[in-house]
Amino acid sequence: MAVSERSVFITKTGAIAATVGSAVGLGNIWRFPYEAGIHGGGAFLMCYLLFIFILGLPVLCAEFIMGKGTRSNIFSAYNKLSPGKNWKFLGFLGILASLMILSFYSVVAGWTIEYSIGSICNNLDFSSAETGHNQFNELTTGWRPLVWTIIFLFCNFFILIGGVTKGIERASNILMPLLFLLLLAFCIHSMTMPGFGEGMTYLFAPDFSQITPSVLLGALGQAFFSLSLGLGCMMTYASYFNNKSNLGQTALTTAMLDSLVAILAGVIIFPAVFSFGLTPEAGPTLVFEVLPNIFHQLPAGMLWSTLFFILLFLASLTSTVSMSEISISYFCEVKKLSRFKATLISSAIALIGGILCALSFGAMSDFTIFGKTIFNLFDYVSSNILLPVGGFFCSIFVGWFVSRKFINTQMQGDKKSISGFTPVLVFFLRWICPSAIFLVFLNSLGII
Ligand code: TRP
Repeated sequence: MAVSERSVFITKTGAIAATVGSAVGLGNIWRFPYEAGIHGGGAFLMCYLLFIFILGLPVLCAEFIMGKGTRSNIFSAYNKLSPGKNWKFLGFLGILASLMILSFYSVVAGWTIEYSIGSICNNLDFSSAETGHNQFNELTTGWRPLVWTIIFLFCNFFILIGGVTKGIERASNILMPLLFLLLLAFCIHSMTMPGFGEGMTYLFAPDFSQITPSVLLGALGQAFFSLSLGLGCMMTYASYFNNKSNLGQTALTTAMLDSLVAILAGVIIFPAVFSFGLTPEAGPTLVFEVLPNIFHQLPAGMLWSTLFFILLFLASLTSTVSMSEISISYFCEVKKLSRFKATLISSAIALIGGILCALSFGAMSDFTIFGKTIFNLFDYVSSNILLPVGGFFCSIFVGWFVSRKFINTQMQGDKKSISGFTPVLVFFLRWICPSAIFLVFLNSLGII
């Protein structure tokens, strides 16, 4: 929804649908399985769930409180709540990270368009179980991913300036439950696979010896990425909530649905990985290499794959629309540019980043910085470092510098009583969240 419109989500379900729409996306279905795959499965899942509920949930409430209480974007929210300008850097951090994420996210969303069209035209080769890898390489090297990235960014641009965001939200109210049902159906199918037991053990039986600093940092980044936290994205969405909305309930529903979708994706991918003799450590390409093998096994596989990739594409759009809003609201509300210009600038920056990321799988695959391709570097720096840093400061800010009365009023909706939940939330925001994030960072630097 356009920031300049400053309208309100009329219904409670509207607000929940929009936040879930932002949270559920490639982060759950593409990023979670690949991160779990490179970080040992069960140990990663356990840390991820722990971080979602003890760190993500309070920070989500903090973003909601700031957004609903100030009715503004991340820059103005910090300005309104604190007289000094010391917190301005968080707005810039939000813009930088959101544009980096938009860049690599658009490349992966571009793959979903390519796979959708390939399925519709019956061009994907599902004839044997070995084809996933070759199929992926064929589709993602050379000029093609560039074109699909550009097309995806154009769709995103069109929605952002065309004022059709409401339409997208309405459509996603129907389509997201459909995606959920489709995932459930694939889960049931995955129970019939020979690798089901092995896949389940891999995902659900944590091997504690696998918990290394990189697993902890990866799980922290994934928790924030998945909940769209740390950049003021949820803050912006909460600025459209109406006064009666119950923030705690919205936050809890979002966190539960979001982690459920990630777990379902894991239940689909890992049994298939073991059934087809593949390895879980494939990285960002994992899901796209494994899925064709699954579709190959299903009756009317092309139909399933068409439906799946189209829904995944739409889920990506509802997420990119929300992350684009961070930089657009800055250019519009702080730099006073027109919405069209603001959207154009943000999209152009994401396009340049997106092209570099797309080339990481082809012409620039040998170009690395700190041993990472540009795609991996953007993903790592934004998700594992910038998002937790944003969350760290947001939780300190709300925990220490915002009055309890303000927090209570925002959390309570239309009730006037003091909620027993507010002191617990403040305790988490003051002590638990900042210190846990800090410890994970120290740990990953090898200091503790
Ligand atoms: N949470 C989304 C996903 O899982 C991605 C996303 C949308 C995001 N907005 C964000 C990530 C803001 C970080 C910050 O696909």
